[in-house]
Amino acid sequence: MKKFLALMLTLALMLGTLAACGGGNGGEESTDDSSSEGGVQVGIVLPTKDEPRWLQDEASFTTALEGAGFTSEVMFSQGSTATELSNVESLVEKGVKVLVICAQDGAAAGAAVQAAKDVGVTVVCYDRLITGTDAVDYYVTFDSFAVGVAQGQYLIDKYAGKTDVPLYLFSGAKTDNNAFIFFSGAWSVLNKAVADGQFKVQNCDAIAEYAGKALDADADHDALSKVLGTIDTNWDFNTAKTLAEAALQSGEKGDVAILAPNDGTARAIADAFSADGAVTGYAVTGQDAEMASLKYIQDEKQSMTVWKNTATLAQTTCDMVSEILGGGSPKTDATYNNQKKDVPSIQAEIVVVDKDKLAELIANGDFSQSDIDNAK
Ligand code: BGC
Repeated sequence: MKKFLALMLTLALMLGTLAACGGGNGGEESTDDSSSEGGVQVGIVLPTKDEPRWLQDEASFTTALEGAGFTSEVMFSQGSTATELSNVESLVEKGVKVLVICAQDGAAAGAAVQAAKDVGVTVVCYDRLITGTDAVDYYVTFDSFAVGVAQGQYLIDKYAGKTDVPLYLFSGAKTDNNAFIFFSGAWSVLNKAVADGQFKVQNCDAIAEYAGKALDADADHDALSKVLGTIDTNWDFNTAKTLAEAALQSGEKGDVAILAPNDGTARAIADAFSADGAVTGYAVTGQDAEMASLKYIQDEKQSMTVWKNTATLAQTTCDMVSEILGGGSPKTDATYNNQKKDVPSIQAEIVVVDKDKLAELIANGDFSQSDIDNAK
């Protein structure tokens, strides 16, 4: 049995490695400066190329790290923890000194970072915290609780003075620690609005007992896990659409409020709601400021997004890498507990974007109208 398991593991690793070498939908490399003398200093592993969010991060990293003169390589896990592990192993073989990793699955990535840590690589969790391991050194992230608060508060302000507004709730992926923090942030404000009768939740019976009660991402993890289990989109557009269509089968309609966790799912959910003739209006949240969602906001098909400036996050990470490679200790301003240790962290600010704010950001040159027009 042991031999069989070992064989399966080897096969899985081989498949992952093959995928990582470029073909198909595997973990392709996108930035490879490894030919430069001294090998690769910084390895970056991102979750998927299939969401525009992570392509923004890739571009931001390339600019920041090349600008600072570091050799780096970006690899994508394409939704597979086996590919993620083989990506890390391949970067370790190339001699990286710092590994920056945004985990596919926060708990499963422990094995990958342990492999890097074992050979003295400094591990920086990027955007998503890796949990249940002490093989992580730093965490660079946005203020994810504030993202959730902004989404929940947007809906509250939008329907100020109204009562019994149907509220539909959707969350990210339970394998992603951020999904818990986003929902906890949103519920920290929505719970009172539900208790006060402003909103009536339509598609999540498990949340009923928490009307008037906040849920902490750490202390109430198990309770949250049960709630999210019923509204989990897995960050997947098709799952989000199917969940939305199912919710519409029995939910009250008219003018409705929708908590959608990010832009990709927001667009999928918005499409499902606009296709339903009994929905007379809706407000839907998002996050990431993906070009396609900025277009939806201009067309009034999505109400808001939360801009997490990946250029800022990549630059913050680059400054941290610079300190680490120079033998110093990076300054941090927060800690996140990952169930094994308090991880020293840096938290970047977020910007809430509705249609008016978007016009301002375009006028300031933060976004270009032609990029938005060309969004797919
Ligand atoms: C990120 C979001 C992203 C989501 C899906 C989260 O961990 O913080 O920005 O939309 O993953 O990829």
